[in-house]
Amino acid sequence: MPIAWNEESGTLHLYNNRMSYLIQLVHGKYPAHLYWGKRVQTLQPSSILQFKGRAFSPSTEPGDPAFSLNTLPQEYPAFGNGDFRSPAYQLRSKDGSTVTEFVYDSHEIMKGKPLLKGLPASYVEADSEAETLVITMVDSMLGMGMNLFYTIYHDLDVIARSVSFENRGSQNVVLEKCMSMSVDFHHSNWDWLHLHGTWARERHIERKPLHHGTQSISSSRGASSHQQNPFLALLSQHANEEDGEVYGFSLVYSGNFQADIEVNSFQTTRISMGINPFNFSWLLKPGEQFQTPETLMVYSSDGLGGMSRTYHKLLRERICRGVYRDKARPILINNWEATRFHFNEKKLKEIADAGKDLGIELFVLDDGWFGHRENDKSSLGDWFVNKKKLPNGLDGLADYVRKKGMQFGLWVEPEMVSPDSDLYRKHPDWCIHVPGRSRTLSRNQLILDLSREEVCDYIIGILTELFKSTTISYVKWDMNRNMTEVGSAALPPERQKETAHRYMLGLYRILETLTGRFPQILFESCSGGGGRFDPGMLYYMPQTWTSDNTDAVERLKIQYGTSIVYPAITMGAHVSDVPNHQVGRTTPLLMRCHVAMAANLGFELNIDKLSTDDKKVVKEQIHLYHRIKELVFFGNLYRLLSPFDGMDAAWMYVAQNQERAVVFYFKTLATPNPPFLRLKLQGLNPLERYRINDGKLEYFGDELMKMGLNLPLIKKDFFSFIFLIEAKSRACHHPKEGVPGR
Ligand code: DGJ
Repeated sequence: MPIAWNEESGTLHLYNNRMSYLIQLVHGKYPAHLYWGKRVQTLQPSSILQFKGRAFSPSTEPGDPAFSLNTLPQEYPAFGNGDFRSPAYQLRSKDGSTVTEFVYDSHEIMKGKPLLKGLPASYVEADSEAETLVITMVDSMLGMGMNLFYTIYHDLDVIARSVSFENRGSQNVVLEKCMSMSVDFHHSNWDWLHLHGTWARERHIERKPLHHGTQSISSSRGASSHQQNPFLALLSQHANEEDGEVYGFSLVYSGNFQADIEVNSFQTTRISMGINPFNFSWLLKPGEQFQTPETLMVYSSDGLGGMSRTYHKLLRERICRGVYRDKARPILINNWEATRFHFNEKKLKEIADAGKDLGIELFVLDDGWFGHRENDKSSLGDWFVNKKKLPNGLDGLADYVRKKGMQFGLWVEPEMVSPDSDLYRKHPDWCIHVPGRSRTLSRNQLILDLSREEVCDYIIGILTELFKSTTISYVKWDMNRNMTEVGSAALPPERQKETAHRYMLGLYRILETLTGRFPQILFESCSGGGGRFDPGMLYYMPQTWTSDNTDAVERLKIQYGTSIVYPAITMGAHVSDVPNHQVGRTTPLLMRCHVAMAANLGFELNIDKLSTDDKKVVKEQIHLYHRIKELVFFGNLYRLLSPFDGMDAAWMYVAQNQERAVVFYFKTLATPNPPFLRLKLQGLNPLERYRINDGKLEYFGDELMKMGLNLPLIKKDFFSFIFLIEAKSRACHHPKEGVPGR
């Protein structure tokens, strides 16, 4: 029974073996937040909420002046009845008022976890994996119902929260704000951490102490964005990678979002996350329902590393779906950085040939194969092959690739339309725009209006034809601009602010339909690199192109930051040419390989032009990758040295049974007269004997974790190596692989 109701104290206790979350029903009306943290045994909660009348804190309860919503730690707070902090929701009724009075009506506890209609969400495969609590609140004057959903997993320290609104009354109501969750912590001694960036510099880590007032992250770009990832964490101030309490919040949504942390004058901390209320509203007619996206709330008492490992397992196993969920992903070669738009069949075949010789498994044809696309100025929307470049069609090339024993993959950008396209000439009103206003271009393109059913149906139809036209094993789904002039020609005035969310619902429907129709296709999402790297996209496409920046040094930060939430199997990582296209830096091929091998490996370079020596390096590293890839994909990640702290970076993946591990170490710039360094490993079995890189010597796990491994003194920029660690019983002999200093 992981959810228990204690009628006497009016408390609901959600728990598993490691974590507890307690809600107290106050005055039989208000679900209040009592506790969230390490598992507690409770009969009668020892610290039931206490009240004291405070100045300027009004009471809704005439007989209880000490009570005020302004000081009550709440589960889903409103504005307008005495709580002056930021509300979790706000509705506008027919008379223009935004005052509501939702109070507890009932609750239900059920096995398993219901799906969220039309939205991506975490799931269960068996009802025994989780239990769900639904608290129903009612505003009797409006006839509105509100369901607060909480799912707790048995084996994961996760609570998945969302809210649904139901108009059971007789008048229209407008939702102006409806966050997915809100939690009031009893103190404010926290740091907060979030992932910020820009194109080619995604998900850098920022950690700061909380200050009074509101700190906030958001996107109003119509995508989760390069700039702020829909994630943040609260950390106890001493928390580090291994120790301390950390609370993570990750929104399963790919559009506009907002997450607020508010510290008030009583040193309490309110955190909320959901659809960005800015430029949003939703008209709810009688009989209609609205479901918010879901927030995945993770608790860790094992520091940031513990939180990340929980997210990794959750996203890998209960967000990602499909046949590729539990499968090692193929090593791919993508032609984009080698050719950009300028290729012909001959060049593509040369890349495929060279890739095949080196052991690459999948050839991906990127942008430029359709319409009359010679640059980024045309043809998005015209998804028919450019016969000038590919005289034998897609099928001709795909056949060639398949006959070589490789899989064939294709790039598409279906959400977009170029003004210079047949599609736009035929349907100029099918893009997001405001009639009569300018249509601002970005990368010379506009966004199709996926809030319109017929536009979504058209995309589903055209892509179904395309994916059927030849055997396609992989699709890269790109999206290269953000929304401007947000509006839909098909929506009435009172629904214009629904456009961005309706777009997401349309996109999710397209993706659900296509991934259902083509279960054998491995989909990779992309938005100019990692501009939409979020759990919502991972629900449909189990990997994401991490960044357009493939420089090995920059990638250390990007991949390290991404790993705070997202598992390595979801991170596309490619070896590219030097000087690097984004930063002009020249790094050794070995380091570029090692950085990419620390995630989901691919290549994106003129592989046919590599020297014989370089080909040898690639071949050897691919061989090594096959030995370690199961660890990278399905192992537990331990971050050892942060690239944000200096010139060294290191992390490791440990097999679930702790019999094998792989350690990645990188030095960016050499420093003069450096100290000796010991790298302390993590996650091993302390009592197990391990061998390193097939060596003869054996070390106990606790030795490697407590004393650490000596690192060589390195007088070299851009240096890297991989340690393969195997329990004595498993070690085998591959003397040359991953040897330090090579
Ligand atoms: C942006 C992507 O991130 C790149 O990898 C590439 O596919 C280009 N778009 C193609 O236009």
